Formats: sequence, C-alpha cells, structure tokens
Amino acid sequence: KKKLGILISGRGSNMASLVEAARAPDCPYAVVLVASDKPDAPGLGWAEGQGIATFAQSPKGMAKADYEARIDAALRDAGVEAIALAGYMRLLSDGFVAAWRGRIVNIHPSLLPKYKGLDTHQRAIDAGDASAGCSVHIVTEELDGGELLGQVEVPILPGDTADALAARVLVEEHRLYPRVVAEWLNR
Ligand code: GAR
Repeated sequence: KKKLGILISGRGSNMASLVEAARAPDCPYAVVLVASDKPDAPGLGWAEGQGIATFAQSPKGMAKADYEARIDAALRDAGVEAIALAGYMRLLSDGFVAAWRGRIVNIHPSLLPKYKGLDTHQRAIDAGDASAGCSVHIVTEELDGGELLGQVEVPILPGDTADALAARVLVEEHRLYPRVVAEWLNR
C-alpha cells in the first residue's frame, strides 16, 4: 500500500473519511501520519485515538522554511510517499511543493476554477449561483490551481446560508476525497 500522510489544521473530518476508507482491504493507501500546524487541532486527537502517528508543529516564531523543514522531516521519517491536504489552512511554499511535485492533493470546497481561496460558500451564494460543490486537485505553486482530479456539484437552495451549504457540501467531500485519492494512487 502507498503510505499517505495527511496535513490538517482543525476538525479533520476529511482526514477521518480517508482513514476510514483505508480500512478496506482493497484500498491502495495506508494513512501513516497525520500532521498539523495547530497543536490543538481536534483532528489530531481523533487520529491518535485510531492509533495513527501524529505530529504537530506550530509555525509561530519560526521562519517558514524552518517550519516546513520540520513537517517535511516528519513526513519522510514516517515513510510518506503521497500527501493529502485536508483542511490544511496554510499555503505551502514553492520549495515544499517542488520537493513533493505531483505527490500532494487537496480538497477545496468550491467548483474549481471558481472561488479559489477562502469564504467559498458565501461567495457562491452572493453570486447567485445555482450550485456549489467540492473539488480535489493536485497541488502546484498556484493556489487551488493544479490538475483537477474530481468534483461533485451540490445545489444551492433558496434561503441557503453559508453554514447550511457548507454542511451539505461536506457530506459530498467525505465521499469524494477517499474515492479520488484511491483512483489517483492507482493510476
Ligand atoms: C473542508 O470543507 C475543506 O474542503 C476546507 O476546509 C474544511 C475542512 O474541514 N478546505 C479549505 O478550505 C482549504 N482551503 P475538515 O477539517 O473537517 O476536513
């Protein structure tokens, strides 16, 4: 099985969906490390409870290069071969992306190329869009810009709030991410 490392910053529900999918015997990956830039990320505790190795490194008071070197070392020490970003809310440097070229994927809560960056659901509602969704893509130096690997569309309902829409999209994220990561690692 391919050794997958997952980077999170918070709740980690997408990370949990990847971990749960990895229990299937025919799943092409095993989650060997969950790492976070937020030592108090709830997802870290969940992963620990599953017996998965975790690593936390706050970037506070550190040069970005030093912070990323710590993350990179933890990933390499764990034998990680591919990285999934799952609500990791920090931009990776060009150097980190280059060192892991083609081996990092991300899930983003919009129908890319629409609404790169933050606040995606409110922006889709404000634009009067009929639908929103989520996308999985290869990470490149361009924010939310690499090759699209999969996408699911979700209707925007009358009176939708950003929170209600986010919850409806999240259900689809949890289905999409494990499926696309498996396809990507099998290709
Ligand atoms: C998810 O909706 C994910 O798509 C989004 O943050 C949420 C994390 O939830 N990611 C981004 O906005 C990336 N820029 P989770 O921690 O429960 O997986």
